Order: sequence, then structure tokens, then C-alpha cells
Amino acid sequence: MFSDTLRQRLLVFSIGLIAMTTSYIASADTIDDKVDALLAKMTLPEKIGQMNQYNGFWDVTGPAPSEGDAEKKFSHLTQGLVGSVLNVSGVEQVRELQKLVVEESRLGIPLMFGLDVIHGHKTLSPIPLAEAASWDLQAIEKSARVAAIESSARGINWTFAPMVDISRDARWGRVMEGAGEDTYLGQKVGVARVKGFQGEDLSKPDTIAATAKHLAGYGFSEAGRDYNLVDVGNYTLYNVILPPFKSAVDAGVKTVMNSFNTLNGVPATASKLLQRDILKTQWGFDGFIISDWASTKEMIYHGYSEDLKHAAEQAVKAGSDMDMESYAYVNHLQELVQEGKVKESHIDDAVRRILKVKFELGLFDDPYRYVDDARETEQVYNAAHSQAALDMAKRSIVMLKNEQNLLPLSKEQKKIAVIGPLAEDKNSPLGSWRIGSDDNTAVSLLEGLANYTHDISYQKGADFILGEQSFIKELVVNESDTSGFPDAVALAKESDVVIMMLGEHGFHSGEARSRTKLDFPGVQQELLEAVYAVNKNIVLLVQTGRPLVLDWAEKHIPSILVTWQLGSQSGNAIAKVLFGDYNPSGKLPMSFPRSVGQVPLYYNVMQTGRPVTEGTVFWSHYIDERNDALFPFGHGLSYSHFTYSNLRIDDSNKKAIKVTVDVTNDSAMDGEEVVQLYIRDRVASLTRPIKELKGFEKISLKAAETESVQFTLTDDELGFYQLDGNFVVENGDFDVMVGTSSMSGIAGEFRL
Ligand code: BGC
Repeated sequence: MFSDTLRQRLLVFSIGLIAMTTSYIASADTIDDKVDALLAKMTLPEKIGQMNQYNGFWDVTGPAPSEGDAEKKFSHLTQGLVGSVLNVSGVEQVRELQKLVVEESRLGIPLMFGLDVIHGHKTLSPIPLAEAASWDLQAIEKSARVAAIESSARGINWTFAPMVDISRDARWGRVMEGAGEDTYLGQKVGVARVKGFQGEDLSKPDTIAATAKHLAGYGFSEAGRDYNLVDVGNYTLYNVILPPFKSAVDAGVKTVMNSFNTLNGVPATASKLLQRDILKTQWGFDGFIISDWASTKEMIYHGYSEDLKHAAEQAVKAGSDMDMESYAYVNHLQELVQEGKVKESHIDDAVRRILKVKFELGLFDDPYRYVDDARETEQVYNAAHSQAALDMAKRSIVMLKNEQNLLPLSKEQKKIAVIGPLAEDKNSPLGSWRIGSDDNTAVSLLEGLANYTHDISYQKGADFILGEQSFIKELVVNESDTSGFPDAVALAKESDVVIMMLGEHGFHSGEARSRTKLDFPGVQQELLEAVYAVNKNIVLLVQTGRPLVLDWAEKHIPSILVTWQLGSQSGNAIAKVLFGDYNPSGKLPMSFPRSVGQVPLYYNVMQTGRPVTEGTVFWSHYIDERNDALFPFGHGLSYSHFTYSNLRIDDSNKKAIKVTVDVTNDSAMDGEEVVQLYIRDRVASLTRPIKELKGFEKISLKAAETESVQFTLTDDELGFYQLDGNFVVENGDFDVMVGTSSMSGIAGEFRL
């Protein structure tokens, strides 16, 4: 808590100043007028202050810092030299900090409070890649809505999500944070998440500003190594990487974050092309751009800026509006303007954008809009949020294989063995982005199963993580100790069914978690093979934040489900699926490779000049591995079985081509299916992929029910970007396929 003297000082200071500022603003009509009116009152340092973001740096409810960097940051707050902070959450903390700035700085401009609310805040939903696997846009939007309700109740009004980076490289740890390899799916998921976070009205206390990140190309880091260079041509930039950002902008996203990487030699933070030209000018984005953490400063290490001052100049000219933790703007922009190196109009533009979002959030009407003790108590870990997380989690599970109908398990099933260190883990299902949440709060698999049956015996088989599990430390995995194997094998031998949960810890994926091997870390594969040697009735649950190589499992294990990192309700969701209370409906948003050497791997490849000619040598292939995925994009099974028939194509109206298909649930169990439509533009002025997702619909079908599903293809789906960024639609022949995955469906054609 602040001392009483400090409190009194804050109170006295506030009177008059705030009243003066707000009355001045109130006389203006529109938000733009209000922004202009306020801007006219600001000194240059105050303007630059709005462009400065600091990390939360001390416990604001504790004593004010008195020395070093923290002291300087503290004084910047009261001088109006900070526009927003990140990583400060909780009503008490947020209120104290907001009060300090609103009451003590000259103009009292409220702070924005940003945080990585990536898949929930306290209550965690599945990681974003898992959510994308649901292909359920309503559920995804709802999940983001819940995250906004819970985080805003803790004082947050801005999330650094959704990440809309497309990635084809499972080695890159951050694939867990996006929607996978496909641009079209990525666009739809990104928009759903923006809508969920921002809601209908941003000024409501339970909606928060969203961030489309990271502009651009971050998912194409060379060799999947995080922070590495990105070298992609305009074809990929315009057709694969940028569309999800454009869709987020069209959906009204309020902020965009630039990225750590260089793109074709230019750090994204200094890319005028990406920020000022494409985003702000061509797309008309009227929100603001936040740098990534110290990405302005990192331009020095990239060898692009001589020093921090040079970096500030380059970033601001390129259109990066707010500096996260580089201290570049706050320390150097004033001098740069005075020296005539940076135009004040560039500063004004950035500040206008920032103030506009603050007005839209309603912060000038009430800077304490997001701080309400009662709401915090009511919303944090609210039961309805757990329910939503459970619903999202069960929809995110993907069944890869189910031979011999091992699943669903009967509720009367006796002698079930559960094996694997992850089965009892209450921490790793939370994933790596659980910054606001509490460790060890997930429902473990064992706990989830216990709600169904008590006829379960557990053996961990082997330890998994040795020592600390932390966001900032490398994990230490058990690579050698197999002393628990005999007990696990003995249990498997006397059981009817074995459920094995293997895979990655939550901290194996995420930022800075690139891998060269896509296997089960440690001795887990050995454990799987040892158990298999005595009991082949294995249901394998793969907990992971990225596609893994499951080649051995695919050959031997009858039932395999990808259970990702499913968040707070993980164990309950998995149990529902295993016992058939929920019929799995997820589909892979990323291809699962046969071998790491295939990566980057994606379904929408080019035909090449040497397409498949099996049995010969000189075609585009590997001599030691197939080209295709082990489990392709869009793949996912259900306990039901769906048949596709009667494809009808009506291309009489070239602006709205109708493709209709009948889908039948020819099983005895009600289920859901994601009906997927892919097209191929056979000949074009730039070569086009052999297939591209251009429509999908998730439908529910009762046992034996048939439904007709219709898709409409317009210019948006049929065109593509040329190398100068122009969008064109070209006449000619198209193939179309509608089906259950990117590799299975019924085909037709039409002419444009
Ligand atoms: C990440 C961003 C994140 C930021 C703030 C960076 O390291 O790349 O995605 O929003 O930190 O936590």
C-alpha cells in the first residue's frame, strides 16, 4: 500500500488538473475531436510518453521503489512519460498504478494495462493451436469472450492476442500459439478471437482491446529456430502470411504487434512496407502498432541500427507507434525531433492512434472502469468459465486413429491401467502461456477419469521432468531412468485396456522452445514400447503443443488421440471423450509429419515441375521417406462415420459459385463433422497450390441423418495476390474437392 502521506499528496494533486483536462475534452464531439483537443494540450515529452510502455516493475501495492531503474520508471509515471504497462494485473495493483498516473501526472491520461491473455487468464482454455483444432468458430469466440471477462475483472484492458502467424514448421515452439499451417483457417480463427476479446462495444468493462501479432513472418523463422531470420518472397508474404492480419484489421482489431524477426533483411520493427505502407495506408488500419518486447533495441544486435537512438528513429519512421521495454522512444525521440531527424507529425500520428484506443476503451470517461473488487471476486475462476473451458477442451481433441473400436470405453469397463508421467500432471496441461494463472490448477487425466470409474490403477512408469518447471528456465527431462518400467509393465500385463498419456510438458512449446526432434522427450517412447510388448490394447493420448512424429505409434497402437495442452479442464475433457460422453470432432490444424526431415510440411504445396511418379527416380521426393504427412491437415475421426455424396456445382453466377454436397452420418451414434472444401486453380499467371482450403462448416448429424451443405465461392476465395500485392481473380478451370480432410473427399470442377 502507498503511505498515507503519498495518498494525501496524490489527492491534492488531482484536484483541478483532472477537472481541467476532462472538461476540455468533454467539449469536443467525436472521439477524433477529443483526441485532437487533448493532443493540442500535450508537450512533446508527454506525447512521447504515450508511446512508451514499461513492464510492471515492482509490487505497486508495496513500497515505492527508491533506487535504480525502478525509481526512474516510477518518476516517469508521475511525469506522464508512460502510455501503458504490461504484466501488472489484479484490481488492487491496477487501481494503485492508474491512480498514480491519473492523479499525479499533469494531464492525467489513463494507462492501458496489457497482458498476454493468450488462452484464458486464471481459468485456462486449451492452447490456441488446440482451439483451432475444433474448427468451431463459435466456441473459439466464446473462449476469447470468457478470457476477456475474466482478465478485465482483474484490471486488464488489452491482450496481446491473437497470434495470427501462419507456420508450417513444427520445430518452432510458438506453433502452439497460433491456428496452424493454413491461411484460410487462420483468418477465420483470428477473427473469431478478435470478436471474442473486443465484443460489440469496447467501452464495456468486460471487453478488452485485442492485438494481431506478429507482423510479419515470425512463423517462418528459418529452420524453426525462434527469433531467427525470415526470408520469404512476396508470393508467400501476400498469399500466406498477411491475409490473417488483413482479416483481423477488417474485423476491427485495435492493435497490431510487430515482430522480432528480420523479413528479407529488414527488422519487422523498422519495416515501413509492413507498417506504414501496407497496414496503415493500404488497409486503413486506424489502431496502433506496439513493438514486440525490446524489438526496437534488438535492431542493434541485428546489425541494422547503430545505437538505441538510431533504432528509435528507424522504428518510428516505419510506423511502430509504441515501444515495449526498449526505452528507445522515451530516451531519444525528443532529441530526434529537435534535430529534425523525426517529424513531429509522425509522433502526432502515433499518439492520436494510442489516445483513440484509450477513448474507445472508455478510459477517459472512467479510468477505473476495469477495476472493481466485487467483479474481480465474482469472475476469477468463475464456475461458468470452467464450464466454457471444458466445452472448448472436449471440442479440441483430435482422434487420429481408432482401430478395433477400442474407444469409446464402456462405463462398465474393468481393469483399466493408466500409465505415463503426464497422467497425474496438474501443471503441464496449462501450457506455457499461463502468465495470469496458478500453477498446478489443471484437472489431471487421473482426476478426470476418477469421475467415471474407480476401477483404475496407475503407474507412472518413469519420471518426466526433473526439477523446476518454469517459464524462464530450460526443462530438465529424465533421459535415462527406467527403474519404474517393471511396475508399469506388470500392471499393463494384468489389465484389459491401457491408457497411456505421453508427450510434451507445457513448457516444451511456446516462445524460445524450438526443437530439432519431434519425438516424445526422454524415455517415454521406450516406455510405450515396453508396455506394448505385453499389452497391445493401448489408447495413446498425445499431450503436445505442436505436431509430433508418431510413426511408430501409428504402426502399432490401435487408438491415438491428440489431447494437446487442454488447459484447466484437461482431464475432465479427455475422460468425456474416452467414455463416449462427447463424440470427438476435432481436425488437425497442422500436418503431423512422418519424419522431422519433411518439415516444413504443409498440405497446400505446389505441384512442382516433377510431380509424383512413384517407382522412378527423377521426381520431387525423398529417397527415404514419403512426401505426404502421416496425419494430414484436416484429419480427425469421430465415433460416427460420415459419407459424402452427390456433389453439385452451379457456376452459372461467376460471382457466387455454389458447391453443394450431401453428408450422411451412417453410424448409430450422433456426431459432428467438419465439412471441408478445397479448390485448385489449374492454370494461373502465378503457380497455385494443388489444393487450398476455401470453406468449412461444422455440422451436427444425428445417427443416420443426412444434411446438404452448401458453400458459396466468391472472388475472395477464388483470387490470389500477385507479387506487387494486387489481388486478382483469373478466369479458367478450377478443381474442387469436398470432404473429411485435406486428403479425402469427392471431387468436381467448374469454370470461371
Ligand atoms: C512475445 C510477445 C508477447 C510479449 C509480451 C514477447 O516476448 O514475443 O508475443 O506479447 O513478449 O509478453
